[in-house]
Amino acid sequence: MINYKDLGLVNSREIFKKAMEGRYAIPAFNFNNMEQLQAIIQACAETRSPVILQVSRGARQYANQTLLRYMAQGAVEYAKELGVNVPIVLHLDHGDSFETCQSCIEYGFSSVMIDGSSLPYEENVEQTRRVVEYAHKYDVTVEGELGVLAGIEDEVQAETHTYTRPEEVEDFVKKTGVDSLAISIGTSHGANKFKPEQCTRNAQGILVPPPLRFDILKEVEKRIPGFPIVLHGSSSVPQDLVAVINKYGGAMKDAVGIPEEQLREAASSAVCKINIDSDGRIAMTAAIREVFATKPSEFDPRKYLGPARDCLKKLYIHKIIHVLGSENRI
Ligand code: G3H
Ligand code: 13P
Ligand code: ZN
Repeated sequence: MINYKDLGLVNSREIFKKAMEGRYAIPAFNFNNMEQLQAIIQACAETRSPVILQVSRGARQYANQTLLRYMAQGAVEYAKELGVNVPIVLHLDHGDSFETCQSCIEYGFSSVMIDGSSLPYEENVEQTRRVVEYAHKYDVTVEGELGVLAGIEDEVQAETHTYTRPEEVEDFVKKTGVDSLAISIGTSHGANKFKPEQCTRNAQGILVPPPLRFDILKEVEKRIPGFPIVLHGSSSVPQDLVAVINKYGGAMKDAVGIPEEQLREAASSAVCKINIDSDGRIAMTAAIREVFATKPSEFDPRKYLGPARDCLKKLYIHKIIHVLGSENRI
């Protein structure tokens, strides 16, 4: 059993409390490899922002859970070396079972998500309650979820959103003891969050998605005032980066995300954690494609992973300052 506190990590309790009071959101960035982690830490150290390092089940399979844990521990030391004591949470994204959550807690994670959103309500309550009971023994914080996002959520695929039912949130939070709650108000995972027929087009021909359901968010806030809310599927799918990908041989068609101003509005409400993964993938891919297309003789991975890391760092700094509002919150 490894205690996250010995690794220099923190759970999400204190940073969510501050985010709620300060009306901003903590960035939750997914990582699978060293360059992503370097970009996250450099961006957070430069902007003095707390951060949640998210590890999905896919990331655990790809990179190995032991290695990821040492990388997170290394991230704490790296931030110190950069001269900033960045509060870092190591969080399991979309945990699918009690056993997955337990294993992560034993490996030094400071926070876990148990995603029972596709289960019948009572089963979701029971599974989440069980994880909370175990996690809290080690002061690990737990995120639960109510409502299903359209698109693919790990292996769960839904055609349309099942929006969170505000009338359930109070009962869920009380019965489970969760520390934060992910809700479904119209965001979704991936780079194609809406079908073109769900969108309108602006003067430049760019797809404009339907607005988030702020009415549901407000109703949730009214029922559980001061309780930390989480938004998944919150990439904005930057069109300039998508254009770079397509210019250099990519084929990202009708890619559309959540407009940044809507995320800013959410961040200034009870939303304390905003999950961003796809935008990072897009930034890396754009930079790598550009190098491959413009310097075809290059074969040193550092010559394309380096620019990818720079592009990612720029993206993260932009998110922290202009979307989440978490700069200078250390
Ligand atoms: O929620 C999904 C995250 O973007 C993680 O994606 O399961 O492909 O690692 P992944
Ligand atoms: P995006 O696909 O919008 O980046 O969402 C990521 C996410 O919710 C991870 O849990
Ligand atoms: Zn998610």
